[in-house]
Amino acid sequence: MFEKIESARAAISNASLGQASELEAFRLEWLSRKGMIQDLMAGLKDAEPESRKALGQALNELKNLAWERFDQAQSNLGAAQSDVESPDLNLPVQFLPLGSRHPLSIVRQQMVDIFSKMGFALADGPEIEDDQHNFSALNFPENHPAREMQDTFFISRNPDVLLRTHTSTVQVRLMEKQKPPIRAIMPGRVYRNEAISARAHCLFHQIEGLYIDRNVGFRDLKQTLYHFVKEMFGPDQKIRFRPSYFPFTEPSAEMDISCLICNGDGCNICKQTGWVEIGGSGMVDPNVLLANGIDPEEFTGFAFGMGIERITMLRYGIKDLRLFTENDVRFVRQFSGLS
Ligand code: DAH
Repeated sequence: MFEKIESARAAISNASLGQASELEAFRLEWLSRKGMIQDLMAGLKDAEPESRKALGQALNELKNLAWERFDQAQSNLGAAQSDVESPDLNLPVQFLPLGSRHPLSIVRQQMVDIFSKMGFALADGPEIEDDQHNFSALNFPENHPAREMQDTFFISRNPDVLLRTHTSTVQVRLMEKQKPPIRAIMPGRVYRNEAISARAHCLFHQIEGLYIDRNVGFRDLKQTLYHFVKEMFGPDQKIRFRPSYFPFTEPSAEMDISCLICNGDGCNICKQTGWVEIGGSGMVDPNVLLANGIDPEEFTGFAFGMGIERITMLRYGIKDLRLFTENDVRFVRQFSGLS
């Protein structure tokens, strides 16, 4: 038995324990309940009584040696692993480049949030449209100048396929598929055949609003837009309505807010008037309701349309429309961190 213990001691002392798998094999061979040391301990009861004490002592030493080697190898392995995983705190920080949202996306989202809180749902429609949705169902007379080539990009004629010139098309699409009450806002891209300059572009964005229900009046239109302007531009912002004309609303009004650049004193942004226009609005013309299968005796509604570029320019003091589409990261980066 002493010989067995001696050769076990040699094996334990020389075992290679550099790998986790070797360590586990060592544990199973020597230290587990079915391992060699337990085996030897079990043999103790058959040993000569006079050598039992010495054998017991030798076995204990063997067991301690095995545990010592095991614990040591385990902590070495653990240290080696955490070496790989723990960060080197002396390394210079690598900054993650944070993108910025496009200012038009930021403002569109702010507008959507304001109207959502007033109960407006979000809707959209196609950018490629037909005459029916862009003009006819919106009560455009046959010879209205907006139908002519200088404004509209036609993809083909007879039947007409065109790029929508305004988001009012989505009003028609909503009325076609939904019975009143309808309360929705419709942001989207629109196209017009215009020369590109600081003040005009052939593509831009609008946000359309439509509210149709029983007893909707002009007061509701005014209150909704007052609230929008205060939320968007702050409580001191003034708003005024000017009588106007749109084929699809009667009466119609254009909305102005007091100029944010000069606070109403007059500057070249507001052309010395102290006011800047933000969009059109009005009570939905009964002809439009009729053309879309809604009884104007039972329901009334209001609509409005605003240019997202215009609102963004006023909000952030941007003076040239072309900046929005030029993809200059120095421009977009100025909006980093805004949402
Ligand atoms: N669609 C008009 C435009 O692009 C804007 C507009 C005016 C929309 C009055 C409306 C409205 O919904 O009621 O110029």
